[in-house]
Amino acid sequence: ACLAAFALNVPAFAAKPLVIGFSQVGAESEWRTANTVSIKEAAKKEGITLKFADAQQKQENQVKAIRSFIAQRVDLIAFSPVVESGWDTVLREAKAAKIPVILTDRAVNVSDPALYATFLGSDFVEEGRRAGRWLLERAKKTPDAAINIVELQGTVGSAPALDRKKGFDEVIAANPKLKVIRSQTGDFTRAKGKEVMEAFLKAEGKKINVLYAHNDDMAIGAIQAIEEAGMKPGKDIVVISIDGVKGAFEAMIAGKLNVTVECNPLLGPQLMQLARDVVANKPVPKRVVTQESVFPAEVAAKEFPNRKY
Ligand code: AHR
Repeated sequence: ACLAAFALNVPAFAAKPLVIGFSQVGAESEWRTANTVSIKEAAKKEGITLKFADAQQKQENQVKAIRSFIAQRVDLIAFSPVVESGWDTVLREAKAAKIPVILTDRAVNVSDPALYATFLGSDFVEEGRRAGRWLLERAKKTPDAAINIVELQGTVGSAPALDRKKGFDEVIAANPKLKVIRSQTGDFTRAKGKEVMEAFLKAEGKKINVLYAHNDDMAIGAIQAIEEAGMKPGKDIVVISIDGVKGAFEAMIAGKLNVTVECNPLLGPQLMQLARDVVANKPVPKRVVTQESVFPAEVAAKEFPNRKY
């Protein structure tokens, strides 16, 4: 066999490529598309075989995908969980099959943290706090005015929706003039963001001073609803969102969005490195947090050319 390999000019004992099964949330936002591209490109660059499954925002599809990865005996499973709870059983099955698991982007709520090797992603509570701090500062311009906020939450039960709400509420509690008067899910999509904002406008009309959207896509959908209601987004209603996608920068440059809190989707290269380390039994940190910034509209035009997603 060695001689044959030598004759064909290939290494006789070439290392078997690492096989990762990755279960993605879906394709609900610009952020998610950038995240998928980053993971696929990083795997390709690293010579890693990626088995990719799109869950279309449904936990049951993710459970099925994880079970199929276990049946295929992949080297490692990575996934971005649609929701936080309900993972114990399937993660125990992966552990019993001795297949390590990496969480990317979103956290899970499990009885035993040893069910996953590491969690790579943003600090969503801090993102919510950053959005809240920006608003607290802005509210200093009108110290006597009551400020009515409507909130577009992300997917019900998902880590970013729970955490971004928590962080924001925690910070704005410092100013009793700031009040969330309506809060509903827009499922992280433009279409739902628009639809729910239309309902908010119908119910509250000109009482609304601020929109806090848990992601840029919902904010962009809501901006359309505000315009269709004959109001000026960014002026009549202050718009705050999270992600920092190009669409948000365009909206800021057009004066329709006031600020976006960055959430970095480009997790591919770090995920591949962590996967290699975990499979090689090297120690890895239990939590790897992504570095991120806040971009107010004033810096949007200058920053836009640097944006990668
Ligand atoms: O989990 C990250 C969130 O999911 C992003 O903020 C949002 O755009 C996406 O759908």
